[in-house]
Amino acid sequence: MAMYNDKVMDHFMNPHNVGEIQGADGSGTYGSPVCGDMMKIDIKVENDVIKDAKFKTFGCGSAIASSSVATDMIIGLTIDEALAVTNKQIIDELGGLPAIKIHCSVLADHAIKSAIYDYAQKNGKTYKGLEGFD
Ligand code: FES
Ligand code: FES
Repeated sequence: MAMYNDKVMDHFMNPHNVGEIQGADGSGTYGSPVCGDMMKIDIKVENDVIKDAKFKTFGCGSAIASSSVATDMIIGLTIDEALAVTNKQIIDELGGLPAIKIHCSVLADHAIKSAIYDYAQKNGKTYKGLEGFD
């Protein structure tokens, strides 16, 4: 496991925000075209602010660590701010990932956007940055 830095290992061994939200305002799943692994993210939204986020992943350590930091990052953000979070910011927050594991972090980024898309659909809202999600 020497390929992972301490922060990645910590989020892998003790991931934050694992689970599901009953009565979630938005749910998104995303499957990686690279490895076939899957991630599900639920969000709770109040007045356009993400109050809670939880994830379940069927993926590797990088996917788990990425979802852990990504959910930490979006809790407390407005939808617009959450949509502006980039995959690179997730990786930077983790202190870097090995090149062959970058695609795993994309799962978190896409699953978040998919959950926000679901929320937007259910509430008749549109946000910039959701083009191509359906
Ligand atoms: Fe394991 Fe991509 S190969 S998550
Ligand atoms: Fe599939 Fe990392 S290899 S999520």
